Amino acid sequence: MVLHTQFRIKFKRIPLAITLSIASALPCVVHTVQAEPISPIPLAIEVDKNKVALGRKLFHDTRLSKDNSISCATCHDLANGGDDGKPVSMGVKNAMGLINTPTVFNSAYNFKHFWNGRASSLEEQVDAPVQASNEMDEIWPRVIAKLYKDSAYPAEFEKTFNDKITREHIKASIAEFQRSLITPNSRFDQYLRGNHQAMNQQELQGYQAFKDYGCISCHQGMNVGGNMFQVFGVINSYFKHRGTELTDADKGRYTVTGRKEDMHMFKVPSLRMVAHTAPYFHDGSQATLRDAVDAMFKFQLGREAPDQDKDAIVAFLKTLAGQYPGAPKP
Ligand code: HEC
Ligand code: HEC
Repeated sequence: MVLHTQFRIKFKRIPLAITLSIASALPCVVHTVQAEPISPIPLAIEVDKNKVALGRKLFHDTRLSKDNSISCATCHDLANGGDDGKPVSMGVKNAMGLINTPTVFNSAYNFKHFWNGRASSLEEQVDAPVQASNEMDEIWPRVIAKLYKDSAYPAEFEKTFNDKITREHIKASIAEFQRSLITPNSRFDQYLRGNHQAMNQQELQGYQAFKDYGCISCHQGMNVGGNMFQVFGVINSYFKHRGTELTDADKGRYTVTGRKEDMHMFKVPSLRMVAHTAPYFHDGSQATLRDAVDAMFKFQLGREAPDQDKDAIVAFLKTLAGQYPGAPKP
């Protein structure tokens, strides 16, 4: 027994000593990356180029919608943050959506998709917008028939999949394209990689405040969010405060699981592109980033903070958006 304990203590100590000596021997870049609760987005990723090219075309193709009026890109505008700038989305024939459109950028790094996390993969996710009556309102057999009438698609599917046009191949292409929608090399990531000039004093104070006040306990990891579910209104009830009638969308994850404890539970959104995706929250209720930060203090933390700290957090959040390397050259 005694021996065993001694062994365990020794065993625990040795790696610690090794880690420290390695860390001090390496340049501070590595050290900084390891110490932070947020990690940089990779500068480059492996994707299937043929699928990405096909997926990009399909993402922008209005034939995926019933009256050929809207594409994925209509609601997820890649030149404007990957969303639509509206409180809730608008589908074919101006059908009102129920919920705010999130960005598609960096969605590959979210653990689940949709505000309530009902899709587990980007492939699975594609089914919803195509078929939702207030989005594209189309059915797959018609999508496929329309794509067959195109002069290029049949050959492109043949080249990419060695097969005919199928629902699965369409979904796989669009999903692969979305995997390419990453935004590396933000100023914050440059800072994490060791370039301490990349952020100014106020932005650094904002990052510190983001950690000190506990925003980081929910918005963390590579996507600064997107890796857990949390109740909206943990400390104070947001929905009572809002006052308007509860919608299905407000129920969050409850609509997926039917469990009481999942009421108002949402996927914690990634804050990577938040500088470009106003208005905020699943109901699009907050017009500015500053308003959203105020609400987070009130409903998620139950704390007050000086304006200076909130402004610094907003300044920090604006350093999170990176570049989209796959953007077609203007
Ligand atoms: C009418 C507007 C509209 C169209 C068209 C549309 N979307 Fe969306 N998209 C939304 C809305 C709204 C949500 C959030 C829905 C929810 O969470 O219930 C969303 C969510 C998503 C998400 C999940 C993001 C996240 O963080 O959870 C992805 C990925 C996505 N859409 C991709 C697509 C693709 C691919 C297409 C085309 C096949 C498409 N969208 C078409 C409005 C739209
Ligand atoms: C207990 C978990 C939790 C904490 C702590 C928390 N958040 Fe959030 N945050 C969420 C959830 C959940 C949402 C989604 C709310 C919704 O729309 O339903 C969210 C949404 C947001 C949004 C809006 C994102 C968008 O795309 O609409 C911003 C901005 C934000 N949080 C910033 C912060 C900041 C800054 C702090 C610290 C002051 C913070 N959050 C603390 C869980 C949390």
